[in-house]
Amino acid sequence: MGAIIAETERLMLRTWDEADIDAFMAHLNTPAVMRWLGGVQTRADYEAAYQRITASQAEHGHSFWIVERKDDGELLGFCGLKRFNSEGSDLTGSFEIGWRLREDAWGKGYAREAAIASLDYAFDVLGAPFVVALTVQGNAGSWRLMERLGMERRTDLDFVDPRYGPELNPTIIYRIGSDQWKA
Ligand SMILES: CC(C)(COP(=O)(O)OP(=O)(O)OC[C@H]1O[C@@H](n2cnc3c(N)ncnc32)[C@H](O)[C@@H]1OP(=O)(O)O)[C@@H](O)C(=O)NCCC(=O)NCCS
Repeated sequence: MGAIIAETERLMLRTWDEADIDAFMAHLNTPAVMRWLGGVQTRADYEAAYQRITASQAEHGHSFWIVERKDDGELLGFCGLKRFNSEGSDLTGSFEIGWRLREDAWGKGYAREAAIASLDYAFDVLGAPFVVALTVQGNAGSWRLMERLGMERRTDLDFVDPRYGPELNPTIIYRIGSDQWKA
C-alpha cells in the first residue's frame, strides 16, 4: 500500500501501488469519466501513466495521488500535483493540480475535499509560489471546481495543445497564488 500524504474528513490521499492500476482501470476507464480526456485508454496507457506518476513522486515529492474513502477503503480516483509539461505553453515546470474521480463518487464534494488537501500540500509543504489547473470549456464539472477553490480564470495563459483536435482545444487555465490561497 502506498504512503499516506494527507488525510481529510472523509478521504485519504496516498501514493500509488502497482496493484492500483487494475482497480483504477476497473472504476475509472469509462466513457463518462474519460469524456474530456480523450476517451477510454488501454492497459499500456495506464502502465505508462503509473510510471510517470511514480517518477514524479520520486523526483519532486508529489504526484497525482490515489484518493481513497476512509470509511470503506474504496479507491475513488486521483487528485494531486504534477509539474506542468503540456506542449504549446510556457508554463512548463509550474505546479499543476489535477483530479479524476469515478462516476459514482461525483457530486458529493469529494473532489473539492481532495483538492483543498492538495493545495494545502502545495503551498504549505512544497512551498509552491502558485498552482495552475487545466481543462477545456466543455468540462464544466472541472472548471466549476476550480472556481469553487478560488482559482482565477487566466485567459492570457490559454493555449492550443497540439496533441488534441478542436473538441479538446484550447486548454483553458485557472491559477491561484500562495497569497490568494492563504487569504
Ligand atoms: C471534475 C470532477 C473531479 C468533479 O468531482 P466532484 O466530486 O463531483 O466535484 P465536487 O462534488 O467536489 O464539486 C465541486 C464543485 O463543482 C461543481 N460541479 C461538479 N460537477 C459539476 C458538473 N458536472 N456541472 C456543473 N458543476 C459541477 C459542484 O456543484 C461544486 O460546486 P458547488 O460547491 O458550488 O456546488 C469529476 O466530475 C470527474 O472526475 N470528472 C471526470 C474526470 C475529469 O474530467 N477530470 C478533470 C480533467 S480537467
